[in-house]
Amino acid sequence: MNVDVATSFGSAAMDVAPPDIQQVGIIGAGQMGSGIAHVCALAGFPVTVVDIKQDALDKAIAVMARNMERQVNRSVITSDDRDAALARIVTSTDYGAFANADLVIEAATEKEDIKRSIYKALTPSLKPSCVVASNTSSISITRLGASTDRPEKFIGMHFMNPVPVMKLVEVIRGIATDEPTFQAVQTMARKLGKITAVSEDFPAFIVNRILVPMINEAVYALYEGVGSVSAIDTSMRLGANHPMGPLELGDFIGLDTCLSIMQVLYEGLSDSKYRPCPLLVKYVEAGWLGRKSGRGFYDYTQSPPRPTR
Ligand SMILES: NC(=O)c1ccc[n+]([C@@H]2O[C@H](COP(=O)([O-])OP(=O)(O)OC[C@H]3O[C@@H](n4cnc5c(N)ncnc54)[C@H](O)[C@@H]3O)[C@@H](O)[C@H]2O)c1
Repeated sequence: MNVDVATSFGSAAMDVAPPDIQQVGIIGAGQMGSGIAHVCALAGFPVTVVDIKQDALDKAIAVMARNMERQVNRSVITSDDRDAALARIVTSTDYGAFANADLVIEAATEKEDIKRSIYKALTPSLKPSCVVASNTSSISITRLGASTDRPEKFIGMHFMNPVPVMKLVEVIRGIATDEPTFQAVQTMARKLGKITAVSEDFPAFIVNRILVPMINEAVYALYEGVGSVSAIDTSMRLGANHPMGPLELGDFIGLDTCLSIMQVLYEGLSDSKYRPCPLLVKYVEAGWLGRKSGRGFYDYTQSPPRPTR
């Protein structure tokens, strides 16, 4: 019997090598999607950004224009670079706009069911050769890839916030990710001026596996009364030479995001050392999410922000 291997595994994209990446699609026009579109467009790639919300797309264009203007003022780029980059970005609320994309980077909300439903709706619009990358901070790349029609062309490409400033991209292969996809994404990251670090597909990868438990430990130190907010942050800034204290950093990342990463670590690694601090849970329950909600471990309605404990 003549068995077609690609068909027998039900994979549409299995036999097609990933192309040279020329056209980029981005899903999600939030803080990360707009940052990724910004660096792709400045590196010369035509970029299509898709979001379910038109106002998120409008806001992303305004944010990118403002951030590029800052780069012009600091002589990082010229005004011609800015104009050319902004002209390379188009937006849409329809995945059909990705018909010519060689790489789609998904940077939508950090919820597994949302990401899965996006892939289901997205993949029929893509070329078989198109690589799909997720910017997830913590969800298993193997599991996400398995929910698509192309697990071998699915990969983690974890940019850091703010994307135009931070140099690192973590690259995470799922168990099925093939070598050409891995190489294509590494080359792409370098073209964006980034440096890659390869992480195995374990909960929260490398950066957040180390960083977020440190933030959680700082919240425990506050909870147990070891020090005040400013004592903890001053200690880590001046005693460990960190540019930001851990509580300030938690507020910057978003305390809801920190909590969800701790939950992924706790559940994914089944180790009690990752249990989220009850005070972190309480802040999130109160809606005190950090900078984005105006209050976290600091009160951002005051200038300079005032410690809340
Ligand atoms: N914030 C960070 O510091 C950070 C850092 C690295 C990675 N990440 C990851 O990047 C991703 C996005 O995070 P963010 O901070 O930009 O979130 P965000 O809330 O700022 O943006 C998410 C965007 O996704 C859009 N969206 C939701 N459902 C959609 C759908 N079905 N189709 C298209 N768009 C949809 C939302 O409208 C929103 O504009 C997450 O996976 C997150 O874990 C975040």
